[in-house]
Amino acid sequence: MRDYPFNGRAVCEMLGCAVPVVLAGMGGVARSELVSAVTAFGAFGFLGMVREPVALIEREVTRVRSSGHRAFGVNIIPAATDRALLDSQVDAIIALQVPVVELFWDIDTHVIDRLRDAGIVVVYQVGSIGEAIAAERAGAQIIVAQGVEAGGHVRGLTPLRNLLPGVVGAVSVPVLAAGGLALGTDMAVAMAMGAEGVVLGTALMATSEAYAHPYHQERLVEADAADTVLTGSFHINWPPNAPVRVLRSAITTIGAEAAESKVIGEEDGRPIHLFSTDSPLRSMTGDYASMALYAGTGVGSIESVVSTDVRLGNFLKQAAEAIPKLPVAPIVASSPVCMAGELCGDYMGHAEPEDVTDALLDIAADMHEILRLTLAATADDFELPRPPFQPAASPIAGWILLLHQLCAEAQVRIDYNLALPPRSDIALELSRRHTLVRHALATLLPRLPDNRMRQVLAMLGSFVVAALPKPNGRSSVDESQAEASL
Ligand SMILES: Cc1cc2nc3c(=O)[nH]c(=O)nc-3n(C[C@H](O)[C@H](O)[C@H](O)COP(=O)(O)O)c2cc1C
Repeated sequence: MRDYPFNGRAVCEMLGCAVPVVLAGMGGVARSELVSAVTAFGAFGFLGMVREPVALIEREVTRVRSSGHRAFGVNIIPAATDRALLDSQVDAIIALQVPVVELFWDIDTHVIDRLRDAGIVVVYQVGSIGEAIAAERAGAQIIVAQGVEAGGHVRGLTPLRNLLPGVVGAVSVPVLAAGGLALGTDMAVAMAMGAEGVVLGTALMATSEAYAHPYHQERLVEADAADTVLTGSFHINWPPNAPVRVLRSAITTIGAEAAESKVIGEEDGRPIHLFSTDSPLRSMTGDYASMALYAGTGVGSIESVVSTDVRLGNFLKQAAEAIPKLPVAPIVASSPVCMAGELCGDYMGHAEPEDVTDALLDIAADMHEILRLTLAATADDFELPRPPFQPAASPIAGWILLLHQLCAEAQVRIDYNLALPPRSDIALELSRRHTLVRHALATLLPRLPDNRMRQVLAMLGSFVVAALPKPNGRSSVDESQAEASL
């Protein structure tokens, strides 16, 4: 396992993985071969076992374990499963001592209680802030914030850029981001917004170890975000109002009035009906084009079907590259003791340690606002489906991740503002935040000794001046003074 800058997060300890990248529990698609490959890489995988019989759960769990893996999970969906089957699934999961279970859709406190009582870590995927709060109250130990960009069943209508910071601010358990994430730079942005890690569905469906049918995988390679659609067409076996994001097809345009009894495929003798939520799997035959071709809005970045190892390796390399490189020893190499020494008054010249940490926190919070405002400013009101984060966001995110490291080493916690201004005020607020960062840097830099923190902040100053658009709105801060000092 390579040493990525994201390794060893608290959430990794809870899940038992090295790197905070999680394979979504994709029903049918995420079987033992894919989970084993993801686990072997050092990431974490959920077996997608929605509505699967107990015998299949036992077989898949045994297969993952016989590949030598212990830290993995199972995904089930209480609301989409007949009660008797659900109870037997939960019995089996407990008997098998599966360490982690992910649940989705309506919050089932009975299932959560049973899993928690058995010592199982419960992860809940949610689509709104209210649901995240309810899931945490019910006992969930990790929350997955699923944006509207997600492939498969989509719980809420909120874009990830708005949902994620809201959920992070509303719960005290670790939050993972999901929905349309396919580039490593997406991971950098999600983590800059407070996620502890990310969940990948579609990006890992297009791998050689996934159980998806090659037809579906080829369609993913050809598709773009705008080819995806959120539809109620595929609904069999699910509660009402359960939209799915799929690739647009003849079926998504005709609606659900056509004959539901029509059989369009089969799997081991089991008929696959038109409008079924089953997506094409290796074990199926039939009219694949009429089935549910699940895809998230990150699909445009998937250019080929590759091994899980290659997909995850490239993804994490890209994510790591989003963090600016320092010319000298990287900041992660600094020990907390060393950083504390640098903040100590004896070494500080003029600035008091509290002034430094206050300024650092202000700069980090303002950069965080700049990131959110930049994402909001590049969104349009009548948007076509598109990936969750625009490319302009990733350099800003990289700097925030560096600031996170500085704040962690200085043992201070960033308190984020979660409210966004009205649409009409975004440009003005963006301009105000730019000015605040420039001003804070211009005030702080001359008062710091020549240490690595100074070096990082000086480089941030250059980035802010060169890469961010010049402030152009009204501001309470004297811009010319801030500009001149940088
Ligand atoms: C093929 C497919 C099947 C899915 N099946 C499930 C499922 O059984 N249970 C679940 O909790 N989520 C399921 N999801 C949703 C994922 O948990 C996750 O939210 C989604 O994959 C994230 O978006 P992305 O696909 O753009 O990465 C599925 C997604 C896909 C693409």
